[in-house]
Amino acid sequence: MTETTADRTTGTARLLVASNRGPLTVVAVDDGDDQITRGSGGLVSGMQAALSTTPDAVWVSAAMNDRERSLARRAPGGRISELPEVADALHGDFDVRLLPIDALTFRNAYNGVANSTLWFVLHRLYDLPTQPSFDATWRRQWNSYIRFNRAFAEALAEAAGPDATVMVQDYHLFLVPKMLRDLRPDVRIGHFTHTPWITPDDFAMLPDDVAHAIVDGMLGADVIGFHTERWAELFRATARAVTDVDPDGVRVFPLGTDPDEMKRLGGRRSVDSALRVLDDTVGDRLLIGRVDRTELSKNVFRGLLAFRELLRTRPEWHGRVVHAVYNNPSREDVPAYREYTARIERLASDIDDEFSTDEWTPLIFEIGDDYPSALAVLRRSDVVFVNSVRDGMNLVVLEGLVLSERSPAVVLSRETGAVEVLGDDAFVVNPFDVSATAQALHDALSTPVEQRRPGAERMRAAAVKLPPIDWFQAQLDALS
Ligand code: G6P
Repeated sequence: MTETTADRTTGTARLLVASNRGPLTVVAVDDGDDQITRGSGGLVSGMQAALSTTPDAVWVSAAMNDRERSLARRAPGGRISELPEVADALHGDFDVRLLPIDALTFRNAYNGVANSTLWFVLHRLYDLPTQPSFDATWRRQWNSYIRFNRAFAEALAEAAGPDATVMVQDYHLFLVPKMLRDLRPDVRIGHFTHTPWITPDDFAMLPDDVAHAIVDGMLGADVIGFHTERWAELFRATARAVTDVDPDGVRVFPLGTDPDEMKRLGGRRSVDSALRVLDDTVGDRLLIGRVDRTELSKNVFRGLLAFRELLRTRPEWHGRVVHAVYNNPSREDVPAYREYTARIERLASDIDDEFSTDEWTPLIFEIGDDYPSALAVLRRSDVVFVNSVRDGMNLVVLEGLVLSERSPAVVLSRETGAVEVLGDDAFVVNPFDVSATAQALHDALSTPVEQRRPGAERMRAAAVKLPPIDWFQAQLDALS
């Protein structure tokens, strides 16, 4: 009898998910103990919700710091979900396997290539006169990215049972589908990109062999998913330009928010008390709320400029509006992120100096890990403000629509995936046009709540129409 690849496998898993960041983050706290919290970002929230109802799945992710690496080494086969302290923190009946990839390879792949190159290319964040420059140092980082992807492909190939389904996530793992396909021709592979895609010309900024390896890597998947038709079409065009192949299997799976989970999180006592504190400052004024990671693509800088222009050009809003900006620290190992964070802090403090009075705090600006306060901002928002430079979907705006108790108006960048979902009812802006954004904030603030209500209801209905479970199931259906 001939031995097939499937016969040689030792794994039994039927469904596997692979992503760089896993559902849990482990950090050391003051007394030296491990503190285990939920991983952050849109990918983790969507996937966590989808997997919580999928039994017997395995989620493979990278150990992202020394603590996680040592936990992964301690757990049998890296399956940290078998450690009692981890099992308690997990929501859902799935296994979590952490890969203890060595620190240098991880740093080069995650900070060097994924976050400093691919994220920047896909969101068009470069300051072009000086960046990017692909030199010998960058090549070493790229080699790490290849090793990092191979570690995932090998772990998946080993854990997958015969004819298993493997769902590979995002730009950290662009090479995995092809690598896995070569190791395990029997498995079904999906790849989902949570970021936007760009034009073939923009993609051509990457070295030719790298551009080719990425597209080729992704084409190893049976189904290649994006949040919107716009990103899917740009990928098709890029694939044609890079490989001359017209790819089939490129599909759109928009991801929305899970309203019950959001309501549960937003209704906790810690959020109620954060809301009371916020109400003390805001009083009966209107609130423009935004909640982001300290992330360049979120465009907080121009958002603050727009708020400043609103106050400069429309003094009628003085004393009548507050802008609350909650930022969750992100990717602090990347110098560009640290510089950006310092810049937005300086601008926020300038705005405060220019307009604050004894009676009125125009800007509440926080950088921290205070999730209850962030949810309180969304509950209290009259205007939910998202002006991303570019954004695969943007779940926060959808969460804001579910949580706000004030039928909010939405000011939304036309460069987000969410704009395809919320469409006509949002005040849609060009994220680079600060004056137009200031005008949209004015228009949103000027719309009385009774007039906001029907649009807010329609947007809320659209936001909850695509819960993570359906998003996930649609991909499984497309793969089977
Ligand atoms: C975005 C990406 C995710 C990522 C998240 C948080 O949503 O698409 O892949 O996990 O940002 O970023 P981080 O670098 O902290 O994982």
